[in-house]
Amino acid sequence: MLDIKPYFQKNDFTLYHGDSIELLNKMEPETVDMIFADPPYNLSNGGMSVHAGRRVKVDKGDWDKSKGFEDDYDFHERWLDACRRVLKPEGTLWVSGTYHSIYQCGHAMQKLGYHILNDIAWFKPNASPNLSCRFFTASHESIIWARKDKKAKHLFNYKAMKEGEWLGDLIKKPGKQMRSVWAIGSPKPDEKRFGKHPTQKPLALLQRIVLASTNKGDLVLDPFSGGATTGLAAVANGRRYIGIDTEKKYLDLSKLRFMSM
Ligand SMILES: C[S@@+](CC[C@H](N)C(=O)[O-])C[C@H]1O[C@@H](n2cnc3c(N)ncnc32)[C@H](O)[C@@H]1O
Repeated sequence: MLDIKPYFQKNDFTLYHGDSIELLNKMEPETVDMIFADPPYNLSNGGMSVHAGRRVKVDKGDWDKSKGFEDDYDFHERWLDACRRVLKPEGTLWVSGTYHSIYQCGHAMQKLGYHILNDIAWFKPNASPNLSCRFFTASHESIIWARKDKKAKHLFNYKAMKEGEWLGDLIKKPGKQMRSVWAIGSPKPDEKRFGKHPTQKPLALLQRIVLASTNKGDLVLDPFSGGATTGLAAVANGRRYIGIDTEKKYLDLSKLRFMSM
C-alpha cells in the first residue's frame, strides 16, 4: 500500500507517522474505499473556551494554530486533493469540522470536483455551556459527506441506517429513515481510559459513518488519525484501516486503544 515502514501494524490496523499530504502522494492511486478526515480546526490562537465548567485557553497543540486565512485554505485544498487521488472512483469522503474550518473545506471540495451528498449536523446534547452569555452555546459540528465526482456510484447502506439500533440518539426514530441530524454525546470516560486526544471523536459517531458507507473488507483511511477513533470503528466492524498522524504521542495512544480491543 505504502512503500515506507509503518509506525505500527497489526492485522488490519496500520498507523503511519508523518505528514498526510506527503504520505498520501506516495500511495497507489484509487485504492481507498472511504476516507474520514477530521483536519485541524485552526482555532488554537489564544481564545477562551469552557472545560468541565471552567474557562480555559483554547490550545490543542501547535498543529491546530492558524497560519492565516489563505495558508489555511491552501492546506485544506492540498490534503483534499491528495485524498481524491487515492480514493477509488466509487469511494466517499467525510470531513468534520466547526465553522472555523468547515466552510473552507466545503469550498475546496467543490472546487476540486467532489460532489457533496449530505452535510450532517452532529448535535452534542452534552455540549459545554457558553460562559460569556453573548453567543449561542456551540453544540454541533458539521460533517460533509461527498463522493469523488457527480457521476460516481457511491455506497450507502440505507437499510442498516434506517433499521439499526442507535441507542441514545434522541432524534432517530426506530424504523424511520435516518435524518441528517445525529444526536451523539462526547466520548464516554471509558473511551479516554488510556489518555485522551484533545479533539477525540466519540466511537459511536465513527461506527455510524463506517457502517453507512463501507462494506466488510473495505479499506478506510484517516489522514488526521489522532487517537484512531476511525480505526477502532473500522476494525471492530471488519474493515481495514490506515491512519496517519504527525504526532507520535497520538499514535502511541492509538496503539494502546487498539491493543485493548
Ligand atoms: C482534529 S484531530 C483528529 C482527532 C481524531 N479524529 C480522533 O478522534 O482522535 C487532528 C489530528 O491531525 C494531526 N495532524 C495535523 N496536521 C497533520 C498533518 N499535516 N499530517 C498528519 N496529521 C496531522 C494532529 O496531530 C491531530 O492529531
